[in-house]
Amino acid sequence: MTTIYFAAPALWPEFHEDLPTALAEAGVNARIVLDAPDPAAVDYIVYAPSAPLQDFTPFTGAKAVLSLWAGVERIVGNATLTQPLCRMVDPSLTDGMVEWVVGHTLRHHLGMDRHIVNPGHVWDPTCPPLARERPVTILGMGALGAASAAALRALNFPVTGWSRTAKDGCLHGDAGLQTALSTAAILILLLPKTPETENLLNTRTLAMLPDGAVILNPGRGALIDDTALLAALNSGQIGHATLDVFRTEPLPQDHPYWTHPHVTVTPHIAADTRPTSAARVIAENIRRGEAGEPFLHLVDRSRGY
Ligand code: NDP
Ligand code: OXD
Repeated sequence: MTTIYFAAPALWPEFHEDLPTALAEAGVNARIVLDAPDPAAVDYIVYAPSAPLQDFTPFTGAKAVLSLWAGVERIVGNATLTQPLCRMVDPSLTDGMVEWVVGHTLRHHLGMDRHIVNPGHVWDPTCPPLARERPVTILGMGALGAASAAALRALNFPVTGWSRTAKDGCLHGDAGLQTALSTAAILILLLPKTPETENLLNTRTLAMLPDGAVILNPGRGALIDDTALLAALNSGQIGHATLDVFRTEPLPQDHPYWTHPHVTVTPHIAADTRPTSAARVIAENIRRGEAGEPFLHLVDRSRGY
């Protein structure tokens, strides 16, 4: 019998049916515990950043820690964590992100705001350009960036991707970043938070964007130097920023983003972990662990994602 410690108690009501079902479907004979008086007996830990668990030392028999979140910056540097760490890569989470990205891209591309909020009843027949005339750049072409790129390309947006490694036609490195930014009418950030990506968008790199560029950030708040972004928005160099993630969440009430006329705040809702499909991802990894097969979605601790 495999012992699974579900260490994210606040999420248990969402998972209490789906996780046992998914484990049964995967053929895993498991008992799920919500606390672990005998940590050495735990085989797998299901984790979320909200979990009170911070010290993994007593879990001497744990074969893996399975994150319910895609972003792992709050656990990846935990020195007590020596077990393999797997993150959430889940089709429903990806679908959610693609929908958020496409929706907010189309809002800016089509200039929807002009017609939705038009108190003066202005008849402005200016037509937006076609998608093929609106270059989009995505920084971070992993699970979520690549899926978002595919959806935008299907709508004819010319999409440039930038990633850490050269893959699938992505630009990379400093020179690649400069090229990727210089052509971006709409810039989408889908990078993880690591020491290398923190403040990637700063005064210097914001200046590489075309005048009036729009920024969408569903990645992590720390990717952006907030002071530099506010200055670029105030000068008009950046036309609009739609931000889903922030250094402090919930975004403090007195933060200038709330009231800035060219900022849209969404409350970290771009892509949620959906219990039914996420439970299947967790169950499949436990099945693999028990069968001696390699885990899916392993985090590389040295890269930080
Ligand atoms: P992946 O790990 O699949 O992709 C990360 C991408 O970022 C990869 O393409 C990687 O490059 C690239 N990258 C990492 N470091 C660098 C660097 N230093 N320079 C250039 N490129 C870099 O992650 P996901 O796509 O699954 O998720 C991305 C992020 O989205 C998460 O880390 C999380 O922060 C955020 N997120 C936000 C949610 C929300 O609701 N707002 C929900 C879920 C996730 P390479 O391909 O070469 O390795
Ligand atoms: C995640 C997130 O990382 O929701 O899963 O941000």
